[in-house]
Amino acid sequence: MCGIVGYLGNKNAKEILLSGLKELEYRGYDSSGIAVLQNGKFDSFKAIGKLVNLEEKTKDFVTDNFSIGIGHTRWATHGKPTELNAHPHIGDESYVVHNGIIENYAELKQELITDGVTFLSQTDTEVIVHQFEKNLNISDSAFEAFKKTISELKGAYAILLVTKSTGETIFFAKNASPMILGINDENEKYFASSDTPLIGQCSDVNYFEDGDYGYVTPTELVIFTKDDVKKEAIFTKLSTNKLSAQKDGFRFFMEKEIYEQSSVIADTLLGRLSDDEILFNELDDSLLNGINEIKLCACGTSYHSALTASYLFERYAKIKTSTEVASEFRYRQPIMSKDTLFVVISQSGETADTLETLKMAKAAGLKTLVICNVDNSSMVRLADACILTRAGVEKGVASTKAFATQVTIFWMMALYLAKRNTSLSSQEIAKQIKFLREVPSIVKVDDEMHERIKRLSKRYLHGHGFFFIGRDVFYPLALEGALKLKEISYLHAEGYPSGEMKHGPIALADPELFTIALLPQHLLYEKAKSNVEELSARDSTICVISSQEFDKADDFIPINECTDYMLEFFEMMIVIQVLSLEIAVRLGNDVDMPRNLAKSVTVE
Ligand code: AGP
Repeated sequence: MCGIVGYLGNKNAKEILLSGLKELEYRGYDSSGIAVLQNGKFDSFKAIGKLVNLEEKTKDFVTDNFSIGIGHTRWATHGKPTELNAHPHIGDESYVVHNGIIENYAELKQELITDGVTFLSQTDTEVIVHQFEKNLNISDSAFEAFKKTISELKGAYAILLVTKSTGETIFFAKNASPMILGINDENEKYFASSDTPLIGQCSDVNYFEDGDYGYVTPTELVIFTKDDVKKEAIFTKLSTNKLSAQKDGFRFFMEKEIYEQSSVIADTLLGRLSDDEILFNELDDSLLNGINEIKLCACGTSYHSALTASYLFERYAKIKTSTEVASEFRYRQPIMSKDTLFVVISQSGETADTLETLKMAKAAGLKTLVICNVDNSSMVRLADACILTRAGVEKGVASTKAFATQVTIFWMMALYLAKRNTSLSSQEIAKQIKFLREVPSIVKVDDEMHERIKRLSKRYLHGHGFFFIGRDVFYPLALEGALKLKEISYLHAEGYPSGEMKHGPIALADPELFTIALLPQHLLYEKAKSNVEELSARDSTICVISSQEFDKADDFIPINECTDYMLEFFEMMIVIQVLSLEIAVRLGNDVDMPRNLAKSVTVE
């Protein structure tokens, strides 16, 4: 998804902007650009494709004086990924970068065209810079013109704008799209759409609120709220840990993140387990009082963890639970009753569809909780309560450790609720907590297993598709397996409940259809086994993942024998992640930045 950086100061602006954009690469993009104003002169560069193309274009460009600059990585929404559509967009004497979508851009554009303005791009963003310059002609100052422009925009935006007449000023505005200001002792000012480009450059950061707008100069920081009231920035310390941003010798961030799951799950559990109860200091009794139902809402992988939670909540906590895909929920005029706890799940905390459902639930007066990996993200700031997953920065577009920590939180939450509802005995909760403590060692990637999957992967590079099948919580895991594989290998894969195959999908069975069957020993083993036999009888090529040998399988990936089905869940999770990774690597794909995908989906 799009990324923004901005810089005001005396250092090498070009390098700062480019390295800031590099930090945002993991979010996914298809073009990039920068504009720098120094010594009263603008220089701007754009390139399609990877950042190296922009680096190449700027190699002779030197910035060694005071300057202001803005930069952008674009993930195409309005108009194809071309150089003309890449940001920054230019007016006569101004440049703008923008994340989000300007909903009323078509009408503004029509008026500007009538006024004689020529548009170079197909983007919604370009209207901002022309509207600003139109307003500049009738305003007393550039800031007045910027303020007027912002008031005329509808939609979601994080905007940085620079203009020649105020050559020491960067104007900013934020609404429903993240924007952060960073400062340091050297009197520099940095902007970015997420923390990562600021780590190592800034000591303190201010997270802008929706509706904030204003400007920075070398000596000033002026912020107004959406009601045009001047306000002070609230600076907080920024972490200095950049180590986690390195690959640590792994081929891909995704691979490193698969291997990190043991330590991040240990972090997720830290301080939250006693012998016979789950401790969530972040949850207040008032959040759960009067709650008779839980609604979980998310997208993609986070939706799969939510679906897993729905089985655990009903089984252990005996609380009615439903799961919703956020993009569907937001437009189907759902009935929301106040005895429902509305839970959103998001790695990034910025996913537009999920964020919108959170706003809907709040507006309907529901109590809200977010399970999130990014502190200070939009969802964390909006929800009544938050449980952080503590997975650390996840750079691979294909989510792995975020999923693992979400499921861990949900398992804990099921036990936490079970204790409250006295639906499980203390002994049963204590037993489950023992299992939970085993998860960090269960998810350690075994070298032998990795090697075996690497060898096996060469048999799965063709065919007309994959079925991942499982029952109960292994159904969401099957969905997740199929999503992982298709995201990074571009092979067609679907997840199904094992018992559903005979209702249609089995018609596809033949030797070129690969079935990845999840067969846990401790949950519906015989039932799931019969479903696999049905596929085997129709000559589908079967790969079984189980601790139990299965003679009808063409391939078998053994997992360790475990004492509980949730431990088998985590064992199998590692297998499907590694299998997807190795298939994608053999196909020569860029595992960390798969085609067409973005890490943080901040448009609907
Ligand atoms: C996972 O591999 C995905 N790339 C994607 O499905 C992701 O989980 C989804 O976009 C939701 O993101 P979020 O968790 O940041 O809200």
